[in-house]
Order: sequence, then C-alpha cells, then structure tokens
Amino acid sequence: AQRVTVPQLVSFKGERKIAALTAYIAPIARLLDEAVDMLLVGDSTAMVGYALPDTLSITVETMAAHTAAVVRATHHACVIADMPFGSYQQSPAQAFANAATLLANGGAAGVKLEGGQALADTTRFLVERGIPVLAHVGLMPQYVHTMGGFKAQGMSEAAARRILDDARAHAQAGAFGVVLEGISEPLGREITAALQIPTIGIGASPACDGQILVTEDILGLSGDRIPKFARRFADAGQVIRQAAQDYAQSVREETFPTLDHCFGVRTGR
Ligand code: KIV
Ligand code: NA
Repeated sequence: AQRVTVPQLVSFKGERKIAALTAYIAPIARLLDEAVDMLLVGDSTAMVGYALPDTLSITVETMAAHTAAVVRATHHACVIADMPFGSYQQSPAQAFANAATLLANGGAAGVKLEGGQALADTTRFLVERGIPVLAHVGLMPQYVHTMGGFKAQGMSEAAARRILDDARAHAQAGAFGVVLEGISEPLGREITAALQIPTIGIGASPACDGQILVTEDILGLSGDRIPKFARRFADAGQVIRQAAQDYAQSVREETFPTLDHCFGVRTGR
C-alpha cells in the first residue's frame, strides 16, 4: 500500500472528508497511521510535548527530528511538518532552506506555515521549487503576541474579509490546502465554498473539507481541559495512569518481576 500523496489529498475535495491528526512521536504515530489521511507534525508539540507556554521557541532541528520519527513509524498517512516560528518569516529564501530541511532530513511530504497575505509570496516561492505548502490562517498560534492570547479570529465583518483574503492569497499562490483555525463557523463555510483547494478545519466549521485536532486532546492526554472545538474520543490518560499504579504496586509488593523476566536463571534450586 502506498502513502497518501499531496495530490490525493487535494483530490478528496468534494469527494470525501479529509481526516487528519497531529503526531510527534513514533508510538502514537504508529497507532494513528492507518486511520487518517494526513498526520501533521505540529509545532503544537512545543506546548503539548514540551510543556512550553506557547509554540514560539521550537526549532527547525527539533521539528525535523520529530518529523523523521513520525515518517519512520508510518506507511500510510501523508506526513506534513509545521514550519516553526522564525524559520520562514524573514524571506522566501530562508523559508526554502528550512522547508528543505523538513523534507530532506525529516522526510515530510510538505510543510505548513502560518500567515496572511504577506506570506503568500513565500508560499509561491516554495511551491514553485517543489515544496508543497499547507497554509494556516485564522487563529495562528505563532501570532500569540499580536492576537493578545489564543482567541477566535474573524468575528467582525472586516476581520472575516481579511481572513478570506488571506486564504485566497495562499490558494492563488499554489498552496495545496488551508488550515482554518479558530474562526467563526459561517466564515469557515464561506472560505471552503470559495476555494478550489481543501480547507482543513480546527474550531472552524463542519463544512470544511477536512478536520484536524491535536491527538492528545482526543485521547485524554492533555489534562482536564480541552478546547471547545475538541472532543475526547478516548480516555487513554486513565488507562496509562492505572497501568503506572499497577506497575508500581507490583514492584512494591514484589510480584514483579518474577524469575520469568530474568536472565540466566538457575533451575532446580
Ligand atoms: O501545531 C498544530 O498542532 C497545528 C494544528 C492544530 C493545525 O498547527
Ligand atoms: Na502548528
């Protein structure tokens, strides 16, 4: 079986919904691979995986290492890597060098970058040089300081127009898709209808061509609070907590390990 390709993802628009999740490490990626069409190695790993307050400090090297782990552990899903903050905003040439690292060293099939119309030239520069780009508009976590926190975007008519124009600019620049995060539902619907490329929503609209969520949020691995737009599909957190308690208790009660778990055991004693 062949891996889902970027052109295949594009062809799903109007045919079937795209199901995507984030993945940062091999054991989780392996479990998700067959179920979804796309795995995003998100810079959300800064917050989810490294317990940082925002996504700003993760580096290209770290993103490439996580991307390589996810690619090695999977064979089905199309793997897209996030371009981290500061790795693409300076110039199209800077963006190309770092995106190339995520493809060459990480093995990603494409990159995702956050930004409005100002970044459309960068999208075009990458796409014309062989790097598929997934644009990300609306709530852009790398703009946390300009937004003044993580909050839904496009609530005024003017702000909604701007986000539609942002999505349009990236589509015209050759982006293969657009992630719509944290925007009003009607706007998500409108952008999806306006573009010929797929929209992938997270806190956007059921009308989007696909959906993505942070995997830890759907598995019960991100604490008690999950965003309004997420749903807990399983409580793996409870399973893991219980396993750790059972293990610790077995060690203390000396019911684990047994001689079955040991090397060079002398028999007949
Ligand atoms: O980093 C991330 O996980 C993302 C998705 C939630 C879209 O950008
Ligand atoms: Na991200």
